Amino acid sequence: MRHLALIAWLAWTLVARAGEEDPDASYDTSKRLPALHHAVGMSLPVDWSTPEHLPLGPERRVECSTCHGLKNLERMPYRTVDKKSARFLRGGPYATLTAFCSNCHDPAALKRPNIHSMLDDSGKIREDHCTYCHEAVPQERERPHRAVDYRLRLPPEQLCYGCHGKTPHFNALEHQAAKPDEAMRRHIRESERQQGIRLPLSGEGQVMCPTCHAPHQYGVIDERKNPAGRSVQAADPERGIEYQAHPWNAVIQADKQDRLDSLNHELHTTLQLEYRRISQEVLLRQAARDGTLCLACHQFRD
Ligand code: HEC
Ligand code: HEC
Ligand code: HEC
Ligand code: HEC
Ligand code: HEC
Ligand code: HEC
Repeated sequence: MRHLALIAWLAWTLVARAGEEDPDASYDTSKRLPALHHAVGMSLPVDWSTPEHLPLGPERRVECSTCHGLKNLERMPYRTVDKKSARFLRGGPYATLTAFCSNCHDPAALKRPNIHSMLDDSGKIREDHCTYCHEAVPQERERPHRAVDYRLRLPPEQLCYGCHGKTPHFNALEHQAAKPDEAMRRHIRESERQQGIRLPLSGEGQVMCPTCHAPHQYGVIDERKNPAGRSVQAADPERGIEYQAHPWNAVIQADKQDRLDSLNHELHTTLQLEYRRISQEVLLRQAARDGTLCLACHQFRD
């Protein structure tokens, strides 16, 4: 989990430097690094050191051959590069990418900041956290806004993927880009009105991460004045969602195993299903543990 977080954060910070991808390009022909790649060419800060098996270039520069052991990597079309080779990353193979990174970095220093922790101890806004997602700190938070008033750096349906995977939990997969039909849309609008919440859909009318999840810590937006601020009231995003074991776990796992197997086969994943009770919820627009969130969209007849 932690090293996934690390890689995701790397992707987030370096995404702006990624060039367009041409499969036949090499570094020499394109002068472009592969998408989401680590920065290259900078001098190692004087107070850092690298192990001997990662040789620096002139002026302590970090070059292709500092990290990669494949000869003439600069000239290889990117699609032909053998990433499975033990020499691909010097000193490899590594059990995790983090193990490779810690040749140079202190892993603790690379941990992603929890940007959802938006209020400091005195309840003031941590403005530097806003600008991870917003182009500027939204000033007025009391009234409901239109999207043009709080410009996001990425469309909201893509906003979370730099740091989170596309399948952070089982249900997320079933809802990925799911499109409510007209009857469900009516029911959603009704739920929004009755419960004073927002369940925003993407421009295409699809469910996205921030449809179910409030991106803001509870209290950043005043829920009495703006339904965008309405969410489960868990105080501390640092604690995150917590679970307790559920006595039915074994039964539910057995019941779902066939479906899960075929899903895993289809998607080439190794998802596991664990049935647990949520003991603390955070960053959800409505409680899920009693089904309120689900019923804001789904209607069940018996
Ligand atoms: C600081 C270390 C470092 C340096 C310097 C570096 N790389 Fe990389 N490179 C990596 C890591 C880490 C990966 C990702 C490995 C993974 O995803 O398993 C990578 C991946 C790649 C890939 C495969 C990308 C893909 O996803 O298919 C290519 C090609 C590549 N690097 C080329 C280069 C070239 C060319 C240079 C020099 C211009 C360079 N690298 C310099 C660390 C580095
Ligand atoms: C050969 C040493 C080396 C290795 C291995 C290495 N890095 Fe770096 N990394 C650097 C240097 C040098 C910098 C630039 C630091 C600076 O100038 O402050 C850097 C910068 C970064 C930054 C940008 C920090 C910022 O402030 O923008 C991130 C993120 C990062 N590395 C992540 C990683 C990850 C993740 C890995 C493993 C996949 C990795 N690094 C492997 C040397 C390395
Ligand atoms: C993780 C990404 C993320 C971060 C960080 C973030 N926001 Fe947002 N913000 C969103 C998204 C997505 C929307 C649109 C959906 C919504 O309204 O909830 C939004 C909408 C808003 C709105 C408009 C709400 C409305 O519809 O009326 C305000 C005001 C706002 N953000 C303030 C802030 C402030 C202040 C911060 C920093 C403390 C912040 N945001 C940090 C993702 C983020
Ligand atoms: C249909 C509503 C819904 C959608 C869509 C959804 N989530 Fe969730 N998410 C939940 C609920 C409910 C929980 C808490 C209980 C659970 O794990 O089922 C949760 C939990 C989480 C957790 C904490 C998981 C853990 O175990 O600590 C993360 C992280 C998360 N969601 C991120 C995302 C991201 C990123 C997306 C978009 C790809 C997304 N969610 C889409 C409803 C949703
Ligand atoms: C800049 C990185 C970043 C972005 C962007 C981001 N998150 Fe997070 N998120 C984190 C970190 C860090 C945590 C703390 C838990 C962890 O390390 O996985 C977290 C935690 C969460 C949790 C609680 C999980 C738990 O149990 O701790 C949810 C839910 C969540 N994020 C949803 C979202 C949604 C929805 C979006 C998009 C609107 C989003 N995040 C965008 C970094 C990010
Ligand atoms: C924002 C609206 C929304 C919320 C909230 C929501 N769903 Fe959904 N859900 C959908 C849509 C849209 C689909 C895809 C269309 C359909 O199957 O009706 C879907 C599909 C599903 C499916 C797959 C149905 C199938 O036949 O494959 C399941 C299971 C499901 N949702 C369960 C849940 C649970 C459990 C919750 C609460 C944690 C929840 N949903 C919350 C909108 C929502």
